[in-house]
Amino acid sequence: MEIVIQPNAEAATDLVARVIARRLRENPRLVIGLATGRTMEAVYARLVWMHREEGLDFSGCRTFNLDEYVGLPGSHPNSYRHYMNHNLFLNVNVDLKNTHLPNGVAEDIEAECRNYEKLVAQCGGIDLQLLGVGLAGHLGFNEPVSSLRSRTRVKVLSPVTRAQNSPLFAPPDEMPRRAITMGVGTILDARQCLLLATGEDKAEIVARMIEGPVTSMLSATALQFHPSCVVVLDEAAAARLQETDYYRWIFENEPQWQSYRAEMKTPNGHSSKHKFPAAQIKN
Ligand code: GLP
Repeated sequence: MEIVIQPNAEAATDLVARVIARRLRENPRLVIGLATGRTMEAVYARLVWMHREEGLDFSGCRTFNLDEYVGLPGSHPNSYRHYMNHNLFLNVNVDLKNTHLPNGVAEDIEAECRNYEKLVAQCGGIDLQLLGVGLAGHLGFNEPVSSLRSRTRVKVLSPVTRAQNSPLFAPPDEMPRRAITMGVGTILDARQCLLLATGEDKAEIVARMIEGPVTSMLSATALQFHPSCVVVLDEAAAARLQETDYYRWIFENEPQWQSYRAEMKTPNGHSSKHKFPAAQIKN
């Protein structure tokens, strides 16, 4: 795992968007694993800005989302299909046929999960998996005691996840109790993982994920097994880590980050050159 700490959420988000954009420019047929949640909204706003202002081209890429609520059709405003369409897909030039999420209203949910795995394999596997981390310590919806070798399947959502996400539903008890999610094993098969966490409410879970013991109680700790995983944090989310001097030294000195450091430096220090107002996004 490589840990990058940025001064604030804006810089952390900007760096994540820049990593994705660079990988997409290097390989226009990139297979990207995507995540949802509030943290990712700002990443998608930056990618939309890069598409509009810098011509970032999504026309050849394929995408696979981590998860979808069981029982919500894509037209439902709380479905992750709806979230993705409105935060990213309809605002860039990706071919919607190449964007994949599990179908939460499939008649045969188990077959849907098996087919999702097959589709990922048919596309050659995921090159870059974008991740957030829930307060329950989950990746996707891999709730406590998810097998660290699990594949795409249905999970029952934990009380912590229900408390975190139900305020987005009106009324909150309309939040489904189950979701289809890529498994921990599916996620670990991605060639590279890129996790973003910001804000003080993530500090404890981030410290356990990075510096704590691997346990199925927190599926995010399984990233410690991944051979190529970058975790980008803001200061608030990094607040409970122990080895911060070491992590900071790596970002400031190692050559793989040099060009990013140069891109992101302005005369005022470590802030991005441009603002990426979410208001630019079509809804
Ligand atoms: C949901 C998603 C996760 C995501 C989490 C974080 O639970 N299934 O993939 O990591 O939200 O959400 P937020 O960014 O809102 O904290």
